[in-house]
Amino acid sequence: MTDMAASGEQEDRNGKNILIAYFTRLDNTDATLDEIVQGGDLFSIRTVQRYPVNYDELINVGGEERRENARPELAAHVENMESYDIIFLGYPNWWASIPMPIASFLEEYDFSGKTILPFCSHGGGGLGQSQTAIAKLVPDANMAEGLAINYSGGSGMPDDVAAWLDVNGIERQ
Ligand SMILES: Cc1cc2nc3c(=O)[nH]c(=O)nc-3n(C[C@H](O)[C@H](O)[C@H](O)COP(=O)(O)O)c2cc1C
Repeated sequence: MTDMAASGEQEDRNGKNILIAYFTRLDNTDATLDEIVQGGDLFSIRTVQRYPVNYDELINVGGEERRENARPELAAHVENMESYDIIFLGYPNWWASIPMPIASFLEEYDFSGKTILPFCSHGGGGLGQSQTAIAKLVPDANMAEGLAINYSGGSGMPDDVAAWLDVNGIERQ
């Protein structure tokens, strides 16, 4: 998936500006983007400090950051967040919640009045506590119902995504 800075120029069919911001380490979350992206700008959330490639080490680092309530420094920034109405926010379930770079991302901008649609890739734990964690970080945003995706999703993904968009009133292509 292309790693590009968000331009904010694209409008979806609802006439609302959409940003699809996502964080991934094992490439399951971004494997779902083809289904999720419904006209909008893509933004890859990346950290300055790289995460370990080794899975066990990654598990430990993710756990440590959670315990410390860390705010890892981000390597890229959305220049014109004010122009977006709807933010699709993709991330893996880490320790039953959000990876801490998602907290860094959410604290960086003013999300008041914007709608956040979380989509979470997981290994069995679903969305876990992630929606609650997001709502606490951005109390002034409208939290839409999230979508849980088992790893990179299965053959039912297109239907799951379609139903999810319908529930949240997002027009489909
Ligand atoms: C640090 C870390 C913690 C994780 N914790 C959980 C968990 O609590 N529950 C769960 O279902 N999956 C957990 N997983 C599995 C990931 O959610 C799953 O592999 C996901 O598909 C990874 O998405 P990604 O490829 O976009 O990084 C964890 C993975 C990592 C690396």
